[in-house]
Amino acid sequence: MTDNMMRLAMFLFPGYHFGAWRLPEAIPDVDLNIDHYVRAAQLAEQGKFDAIFFEDQAAVPRSNNIMKGDHFGGASPRAIHYDPSMLLPALAMKTTHIGLVATSSTTFNEPYNLARRFSSIDFISKGRAGWNLVTSFNENEAQNFGMDALTDHGTRYERAGEFFDVVAGLWEGWEEGALTRDKESGVYFDTTKMHFLQHEGKFFKVRGPLTMDRSPQVRPVIFQAGSSEPGRQLAARTADVVFTEQPSLAACREFRDDIRRRAASFGRDPNKIKILPNFMPIVGKTDQEAKDLHARMRALVPDDLALGWLMQNAGGLDFRDYDLDGPMPDLPETNAGKTMQANIMNIARRDNLSIRETARYFGETPAQRLIGSPSTIADLMQEWFEGGACDGFAVSPPYFPAGVEDFVHLVVPELQRRGVFRTEYDGTQLRDHLGVETYR
Ligand SMILES: Cc1cc2nc3c(=O)[nH]c(=O)nc-3n(C[C@H](O)[C@H](O)[C@H](O)COP(=O)(O)O)c2cc1C
Repeated sequence: MTDNMMRLAMFLFPGYHFGAWRLPEAIPDVDLNIDHYVRAAQLAEQGKFDAIFFEDQAAVPRSNNIMKGDHFGGASPRAIHYDPSMLLPALAMKTTHIGLVATSSTTFNEPYNLARRFSSIDFISKGRAGWNLVTSFNENEAQNFGMDALTDHGTRYERAGEFFDVVAGLWEGWEEGALTRDKESGVYFDTTKMHFLQHEGKFFKVRGPLTMDRSPQVRPVIFQAGSSEPGRQLAARTADVVFTEQPSLAACREFRDDIRRRAASFGRDPNKIKILPNFMPIVGKTDQEAKDLHARMRALVPDDLALGWLMQNAGGLDFRDYDLDGPMPDLPETNAGKTMQANIMNIARRDNLSIRETARYFGETPAQRLIGSPSTIADLMQEWFEGGACDGFAVSPPYFPAGVEDFVHLVVPELQRRGVFRTEYDGTQLRDHLGVETYR
């Protein structure tokens, strides 16, 4: 694919918008219904998307509060989902080209398990697997893994760096041609082409190799989405694709330039790293129709749910002790996600939002929203893309199925007509779609 084309990843997360799943036309049980996921994946493939993407947190948000009897804001639709690494093989069997990306945390996994899981998916999908590497920010996850609290932010990233090195080493543990399966000689594989990683570091001791040959892409594609200082360093050194949430074209361009500069300092080709800002499209046949749909969705966001989310992500303040119609107070330094906390404050200050309004804003999505007719949405996407702010987009439809269908049936053809998005896949592997480094 030529490099004047956008890359698009579809973010499939059923309750992402806290209100839209309540629309009469929405199907909320996409969360645990494999048939709906298959339909969504096939729709995204019909739209020639590079990949579908699944986020993950290994805990019900606000579990610790609920356990203590504080049920306020605890029934988040974002809580209900599969382990996405189990979803990918099922979707691989029902699609042929689209990339399949799942989130897995370096804080709550062992590198050997994770490496073989994603290698397996890469084989099953014939080279379409991607891993979204996260360090985790949800304080409720730690208690599911033998910890009382999250380890500190810097340590999580230090572990993530070593975790990646082990995983990448394991993925290259078998030389090309190692598996002979030679009936004549009876030699199944050539043991001289099987390499022991013998890793011994601060966090991990791993011998290797994996129980598999090198996978079709050798390395499944690495996605990363932390934007703090250590998050950017890790992305610049290891990621093929970086997701981000940025408030404006200028901020996104600055972010992209920064990641590209850092990547070059690690000796990498900056053109092989794709920066995809996340946005939520709200599509109508006309701009007015889209605005009306947005108003309907927004009115369905429950205040307590949105406030519960804000309390978890803003760094521990209990906003019930505050005047909800007053301004957002300054927030204490957080050990959870630093970028999310910064985004919350930037938006609240920029738009002069009260606590309640901030909660409602983020209850829709932390991402940029693009509201309008297909041509209005395509204009904005083109402006960001051609303005050097990004290499494409993570698209987060607010609900299923119309949110996915409208983007695929109305916006994608508009982008294709403008010559900024593919009309056919060129290759069959995710690294080829994205135009990132290959290891074959
Ligand atoms: C589009 C997008 C998707 C993300 N998905 C996840 C996810 O599925 N699970 C998770 O724990 N964090 C997720 N994150 C959060 C980051 O990957 C990162 O772990 C978090 O922001 C903390 O890192 P930071 O302090 O460097 O920002 C996502 C962030 C963005 C922008």
